[in-house]
Amino acid sequence: GKGNHRHFMAKEIAEQPEILSHAIATYVRPADEIVELPASTIDFASIDRLTISGCGTAYLAGLVARYWFESWAKLPVEIDIASELRYRDVPYGDNAAALFISQSGETADTLAALRDAKAAGAVVGAVVNVTESSMAREADGIFPIKAGPEIGVASTKAFTCQLATLASIAIAAGKARGTLTPTEEKRLVRGLLSIPRLMADVLVHDERIEELSHHLQPARDVLYLGRGVSFPLALEGALKLKEISYIHAEGYAAGELKHGPIALIDEHVPVVVIAPLDKHFDKTVSNMHEVIARGAKCLLLTSEEGAARAGYEEDLLGSFILPEVEPDLAPLLYAVPIQLLAYHTAVLKGTDVDQPRNLAKSVTVE
Ligand code: M6R
Repeated sequence: GKGNHRHFMAKEIAEQPEILSHAIATYVRPADEIVELPASTIDFASIDRLTISGCGTAYLAGLVARYWFESWAKLPVEIDIASELRYRDVPYGDNAAALFISQSGETADTLAALRDAKAAGAVVGAVVNVTESSMAREADGIFPIKAGPEIGVASTKAFTCQLATLASIAIAAGKARGTLTPTEEKRLVRGLLSIPRLMADVLVHDERIEELSHHLQPARDVLYLGRGVSFPLALEGALKLKEISYIHAEGYAAGELKHGPIALIDEHVPVVVIAPLDKHFDKTVSNMHEVIARGAKCLLLTSEEGAARAGYEEDLLGSFILPEVEPDLAPLLYAVPIQLLAYHTAVLKGTDVDQPRNLAKSVTVE
């Protein structure tokens, strides 16, 4: 059931700290601060490329993971949405592996892309929630995300559990390839283990997000900006808002804005800026100042130190402060306010949050 919550989506957002700590426990040995994959069939030391695919939110989790595999495992990554990948003539080559991400494990396009990769000789892993699914059956190896049943059509806890699972796989890949030192592994594992507690800290401030969502409710269009690992999260924020509140939204890489979309900016288009205090922070904030100078009303998601460094407080619609987090892993934490912002905006608009129009939980047609 929904417990004390009005919607399954609210319940599934709120239970993330607990669910995620179980998911992480599947892949991490806390006492030693190391990752251990359960009998992985992918030999990361011997592959020379990795393909990642999925649809919707699952694809966006993959987009985050690309940064991780490249940076920690120095592995060339190719990523595409499954409905395109399956119609491309992908030259997988001899030493290829592919990861297919899907909550349900039944999405038609993802399943078809998985079958193609397998037929082409790639070693195929399924990152799935439903371990009795078609993808789980057909893959060479399964990486369960352990999110438990997700009822809301909008994917929330499955996304963060996908991220935790993919981060663990990427750490293991870096270890196998000798590109990640034991010290770096420990730092990342400690970072992962700290996420559930940090998430709980963020969830306490749910009311602040509700307050901020009043700025999105009247909007016709909303932009989300991020750079680095926060870019896919900008796409996820826009997807979530469109899906349940029916407000048109776009996610953009912060640096891409001046190549076109900045023409859209005026005081009626709220801009959600995702800016954890990472190596991209100053660049992202300077992009924010560019849009503020053009009249944009921005909503800043950052840490306390980030907010102080960004300045311009009086020019913002508002900001939401998150705790400091291991920068590479920020998407796991920043996902929460992104989900809550969409949720509260949808509730204000009175839409059917758990069953948005035209959508199905699992898309088994092409
Ligand atoms: O079951 P899957 O993870 O394969 O589903 C993929 C997408 O249909 C799904 O993530 C969809 O984008 C969500 N409704 C987004 O919240």
